[in-house]
Amino acid sequence: MGDKAQGMATKGMPKGPEIPDTSQVQQGQPGLQKELRAQPVSEQLPTQHGDQEVLTLEAYRGVGKLKGKVALLTGGDSGIGRSVAVLLAKEGAKGVAIVYLPKEQPDADHARQLIEAEGSEALLIAADLSEGEAACKKIVLEKYGRVDVLVNNAAIQYVVPSIQETGEEIVSDTFRTNVFPMFFLCKYAVPHMPRGSSIVNSTSVTAYQGSKSLLEYSATKGAIVTFTRSLALQLAPQGIRVNAVAAGPIWTPLQPATMPEEALEGLKASPPPLGHIGQPVEAATSYVFLASQEASFMTGQARYLFGAGPVLHPDGGMSTSS
Ligand SMILES: NC(=O)c1ccc[n+]([C@@H]2O[C@H](COP(=O)([O-])OP(=O)(O)OC[C@H]3O[C@@H](n4cnc5c(N)ncnc54)[C@H](O)[C@@H]3O)[C@@H](O)[C@H]2O)c1
Repeated sequence: MGDKAQGMATKGMPKGPEIPDTSQVQQGQPGLQKELRAQPVSEQLPTQHGDQEVLTLEAYRGVGKLKGKVALLTGGDSGIGRSVAVLLAKEGAKGVAIVYLPKEQPDADHARQLIEAEGSEALLIAADLSEGEAACKKIVLEKYGRVDVLVNNAAIQYVVPSIQETGEEIVSDTFRTNVFPMFFLCKYAVPHMPRGSSIVNSTSVTAYQGSKSLLEYSATKGAIVTFTRSLALQLAPQGIRVNAVAAGPIWTPLQPATMPEEALEGLKASPPPLGHIGQPVEAATSYVFLASQEASFMTGQARYLFGAGPVLHPDGGMSTSS
């Protein structure tokens, strides 16, 4: 079973899959991928052939980079997380567990089909990560004897144009969802992670560039970068690598569920330098790389560390440094 998306012929910069609908503003978050008219691309790679003006979508072919591994991903039902889950399965992961909110069950069911179609075991865990340490402990301890790959990916964002309009609830909700669970999931997963395991955290281009109307969200993403650097130092002696992926604009349910229509129109009018809004698979390949032994010499984010690796920026060229 595959996700479908069509390319769009235009002159100039090669185009990615078309995102034709600018009126898909969903009520509340997290948004449901099932309801998006332009389905995000999870498992096919936009690929350039010669001078063609439209990138061709081609099947991602796994080569066993994660053969036999067990992965736990938050936000794995949709968007970037779903694509990571499917690519891990394509790379031979034995089991892929995804955490999501109960209201996202239809998306989780679809993700399960995609994971199982690759021959991996899918484990669905409906849970609210913002409930705190006990909820995170339960997720890890009840299900696993072992975790090889932990992907901390769940997040929310609120568009708040002025700091005068923010408040306790928005700030607290954003940090309780985006940051706190990383501490607790890592705390309880690490004792079950053998040498060679990998933690990959989802940060964002906003951690580096800032965002005037996503103050709370971008602050959480900055915290995630620093958390990643620090935990990398702490876990290096145990042979556990900790890295992060800082994506630029990617077409996922997060966008229409949280951003005003004008934001998508603005992005389409003024896309990243590579000319199109990214698809989840275009970020997911970075997670697979960091999760695999191909990134055996990469941990943390600070460049000055010997043997340290960068936060990857699958952002179409928006960011030039980390
Ligand atoms: N889409 C982008 O443009 C973009 C850019 C940079 C970074 N990111 C990051 O990528 C990650 C994935 O986001 P996405 O764009 O794929 O959107 P998404 O809406 O598909 O994924 C976010 C997921 O977070 C999970 N989630 C939110 N609150 C939760 C809670 N309380 N308990 C459990 N799960 C919860 C949901 O399952 C949801 O599916 C996020 O960390 C986001 O900040 C996205």
